Amino acid sequence: MDLVEVAFVASGKTVFVQPGTTLLAAAGLAGVEVTTGCTRGMCGTDAAHVAAPADALEPAGEPERGTLDRMGLAHGCRLLCSARVRRGRVEVHGDALLD
Ligand code: FES
Repeated sequence: MDLVEVAFVASGKTVFVQPGTTLLAAAGLAGVEVTTGCTRGMCGTDAAHVAAPADALEPAGEPERGTLDRMGLAHGCRLLCSARVRRGRVEVHGDALLD
């Protein structure tokens, strides 16, 4: 099984993780601090801009999709606690609430 590359652009840190790993877990492995709340896809605290090919991440399920919709962040953003990598390379570009 090929590892997935996750690059945290603002910090310049990159890690390689197993498919199925959340972006939040990848951040922990990379030593990147992320402000979190519920860690269940409900509060939206960890919304971030993410750049990746369509198949690089598992599609957002519930409650992540509903939370992003409610926040007006349905396009180009994911919740780091909920988004799971699938293949290739994913770039995390920062906090969607601040940018
Ligand atoms: S920490 Fe609450 S949605 Fe991710």
